[in-house]
Amino acid sequence: MNTELHLQSTTSLYNGVKIPWLGLGTFALKDSSPIKNAIQIGYRSIDTASIYGNEQIVGEGIRQGIETANISRAQLFVASKIWITDQGYDETLAAYEKSIQKLGVNYLDLYVIHWPVKEKYKETWRALETLYKQERVRAIGISNFQIHHIEDIMESCEIKPMVNQIEYHPLLTQKNLYSFCYKQGIQLISASPFMKGQLLDNPILQNIAAKYNKSVAQIILRWNVQNHVIPIPKSSSKERILSNANIFDFQLKQEDMELIYSLNQNHRIGPDPNNSHTFLSVYHEWKQEKITAEEAMERIKMDPIIFYKRVSELEY
Ligand SMILES: NC(=O)c1ccc[n+]([C@@H]2O[C@H](COP(=O)([O-])OP(=O)(O)OC[C@H]3O[C@@H](n4cnc5c(N)ncnc54)[C@H](OP(=O)(O)O)[C@@H]3O)[C@@H](O)[C@H]2O)c1
Repeated sequence: MNTELHLQSTTSLYNGVKIPWLGLGTFALKDSSPIKNAIQIGYRSIDTASIYGNEQIVGEGIRQGIETANISRAQLFVASKIWITDQGYDETLAAYEKSIQKLGVNYLDLYVIHWPVKEKYKETWRALETLYKQERVRAIGISNFQIHHIEDIMESCEIKPMVNQIEYHPLLTQKNLYSFCYKQGIQLISASPFMKGQLLDNPILQNIAAKYNKSVAQIILRWNVQNHVIPIPKSSSKERILSNANIFDFQLKQEDMELIYSLNQNHRIGPDPNNSHTFLSVYHEWKQEKITAEEAMERIKMDPIIFYKRVSELEY
């Protein structure tokens, strides 16, 4: 890793497909201008998901960005995800058509399983393999999968996942999962690199930021990239989108990389995929209207406050 990277620098997935080192997250974005602005600034990678409910808006932003930056669709890397209720073989194929239609693109660069629903993810993966073999997607992957989920998929898959998008930031480094994916050649993508903004007033990160004359956000993003993890920060502001891209003109020293690692507390802002099997399955059935919310809560013996809290954390 060196400082000669720039905003459009890429790394290669194990199938040779190139993915930019920095992308724009789009969770909760409600209008197309941040996406357009990001592309105009020079971002080439956009991450969305059907559950964000904004694929249409993201698609508009992509078209506006392509026009403003005078680039082609092929110069962009567009990723989306299959939500829990769309899992299963046929369901996934149908969900793919809906996603690309909403986005207004005729292929995706990356399509991933958003969460590991135990009874469903193998069939979902088979559908992704079909899409990949049909060259409808350039790369396929998973998200929020832990080692045991990946091993389980790898027992029967024809094509190994190319990426795993996980919650990853200085308070949650997931060391074992990191090493496992690294050894398997599965590229990690860091969701919520700023812990949804909550990490930006961390005093240790602020000290490091002052030392490099950078913002805490830039320090976190640079730490990700030097760590071979692709961050996809979300911002609605043009200034912050620009500033988040300004991470390719400096390099963190090893001592500061280590200091940032030492902040790990295994602290999550999202649900824990290791303890969510039962909840995810029940959520799946409830959202497909196979059971009522009351039946769902009864089945997992969860009171309504916790149940709806878990639902909102999941859909975050
Ligand atoms: N696979 C998954 O399950 C999963 C889960 C979570 C996220 N993701 C993906 O990862 C993306 C990023 O994660 P996230 O949206 O959860 O959170 P995040 O990127 O960690 O943080 C976003 C928050 O930080 C603020 N922010 C961004 N840049 C900033 C800066 N330079 N200075 C100060 N504040 C700044 C944003 O506010 P402003 O908008 O006001 O700038 C927003 O409130 C998502 O959008 C989504 O695409 C995936």
